Amino acid sequence: MADIQARVNELHELLNRYGYEYYVLDNPSVPDSEYDKLLNELIEIESNHPEYRTPDSPTVRVGGTAQSTFEKINHDTPMLSLGNAFNEADLRKFDQRIRDNIGDVEYMCELKIDGLAVSLKYEDGRFVQGLTRGDGTTGEDITENLKTIHAIPLKIKESRTFEVRGEAYMPRQSFFNLNKAKAEKEEQPFANPRNAAAGSLRQLDSKLAAKRKLSVFLYSVNDFTQFNADTQSEALDELDELGFKTNQERQRVATIDEVLAYIDKWTEKREDLPYDIDGIVIKVNALEQQEALGFTQKSPRWAIAYKFPAEEVITELLDIELSIGRTGVVTPTAILEPVKVAGTTVSRASLHNEDLIHDRDIRIGDSVVIKKAGDIIPEVIKSIVDRRPKEALVYHMPTHCPSCDHELVRIEGEVALRCINPKCQAQLVEGLIHFVSRQAMNIDGLGTKIIQQLYEHKKIKDIADIFYLTKEDLLPLERMGEKKVDNLLNAIDKAKSNSLEQLLFGLGIRHLGVKASKVLAEKYETMNALFEVTEEELIAIHDIGHKLAQSVVTYLANEDIRALIDKLQSKHVNMTYKGIKTSDLDGHPDFKGKTIVLTGKLYQMTRNEASDWLTLQGAKVTSSVTKRTDLVIAGEDAGSKLAKAESFGTEVWTEEDFVQKQKEIEG
Ligand code: IVH
Repeated sequence: MADIQARVNELHELLNRYGYEYYVLDNPSVPDSEYDKLLNELIEIESNHPEYRTPDSPTVRVGGTAQSTFEKINHDTPMLSLGNAFNEADLRKFDQRIRDNIGDVEYMCELKIDGLAVSLKYEDGRFVQGLTRGDGTTGEDITENLKTIHAIPLKIKESRTFEVRGEAYMPRQSFFNLNKAKAEKEEQPFANPRNAAAGSLRQLDSKLAAKRKLSVFLYSVNDFTQFNADTQSEALDELDELGFKTNQERQRVATIDEVLAYIDKWTEKREDLPYDIDGIVIKVNALEQQEALGFTQKSPRWAIAYKFPAEEVITELLDIELSIGRTGVVTPTAILEPVKVAGTTVSRASLHNEDLIHDRDIRIGDSVVIKKAGDIIPEVIKSIVDRRPKEALVYHMPTHCPSCDHELVRIEGEVALRCINPKCQAQLVEGLIHFVSRQAMNIDGLGTKIIQQLYEHKKIKDIADIFYLTKEDLLPLERMGEKKVDNLLNAIDKAKSNSLEQLLFGLGIRHLGVKASKVLAEKYETMNALFEVTEEELIAIHDIGHKLAQSVVTYLANEDIRALIDKLQSKHVNMTYKGIKTSDLDGHPDFKGKTIVLTGKLYQMTRNEASDWLTLQGAKVTSSVTKRTDLVIAGEDAGSKLAKAESFGTEVWTEEDFVQKQKEIEG
């Protein structure tokens, strides 16, 4: 027995060492076959003698049993994000702000790895828990999947207890291999390595995650008391010594000009890296200075992320097709010769409206420049006129709806053309898609393709029909199995208990967005109460204008809509508000009941965030300064509102005053 234990210990040690050399140092000392041989030997011993299996055995790298869900767990301290810089001016401003606050600084420049933030907890030197970032406050427990990443040590040299954070990512090579395998099986490929990494870490079966060949770079230590470091740079060196994988391209610099040079270097060289990066992170190096600068609600003041500009590529505009939205707006869509932009293949892009096509002189057959706005939505920026072929065609919008052939109209004051036929099929389908979308009824699994098929098979004509769907309706659809049908029916059933604002938003009432839906639901609480409401009453509510008030009242008075609501009610779709009433919140005495105006540019949060926070404290945030305004919070370049406040003698705070107060309240 002692022999077995000795061999097990030896195998652990060898496998950990070889794994470290291969996955962390990128410098293997033995061939892969040697590693595999030893691993198989250990697997064999553990299967014959399960008592030798330990939670930190290298065999856990191959994955274990599948889970049914990921447990949600609160982070010890929130996982924040970083403020963004898009150009030199943003970076110089950041540098100036830092120097104004704390004087001379040294920066640490790091690559911004394009993956997923993870937090790893070690107890007495053993990896015990790994979480996703989640919403920053609560993450999901993906420990089992993270254990399959060889670059994450299961055990470190010293018996310390701490948390480290970093970025899990899929190396480009793993991504290409994975997509190649997917293509061979005729499966949908992943759009980019980040999505592939996210998909892999969300596998409930860690054996599948293990096949995905992910890696990780650690970039921060959560609690420095367990470390000897005085700077970010020393902390990363210490992580290296403990056996973690950190990114070696980091560089300490003394000036913002050197930061800019580092950015230039990596803008040039990023394509040569074996993994994707989407920017550069700049951090104040000294921990003491980091502490002095502190945090805003969302991000540290001592760091910023420079984002690379969106990639632009040239392709050919093959055609322009029209799509009809939920409200009848007809949008021209560019059909492009498929081309890769920022990691995904793009074959369509919105052209927004006819004016834009003519303003940018875009013609069918042109070579066009496209980029992805925010690296997500593809957009045609311009035509390359020099390359225009003789046969390129000027585009004219049709006069009739391509779906129902009803005449299209241009509403006064709007650029868009609209189909105003309320029975237009394309619009009805879009309305159904909107109803099930995330911010509306959030019915998981009921995607565009399924909705289209159900509509074509006449299984659903209106939104209420969704709740009448049966197994028999769903099973004959393409790519539908028993399990998928059950999941779908469950999701539909679950949606019945959504809070009123989701239903209201889902109805697709013109001008009624997510925020106003919430305002109405919270104020009136039930659909029946909303049926009674008048335009005058609605206009009196802050945030609700004349156009919206009229639209809501007209919509709810419509006989067909009443019948539709009845039809939903017969299936027990909830029609009441289930959220918290802001008026019931205790709030903070400094803000409760006060009327507050936000104006000017805020740097440490968005105006929406400031407004949401104030609302939670019981304040009423309004848009114009009157004599009844209690407080104006003025950011940079605040204009007439600030002048008005001063003329009324209203109390005025700077953003800094406000942030200080927030800190005081939140501790
Ligand atoms: S530091 C307080 N360093 O970029 C946040 N982040 O918003 C500290 N990222 O979600 C983050 N590489 O996941 C830091 N070298 C790096 C990074 C990095 C990638 C990600 C991180 C975060 C996002 C920034």
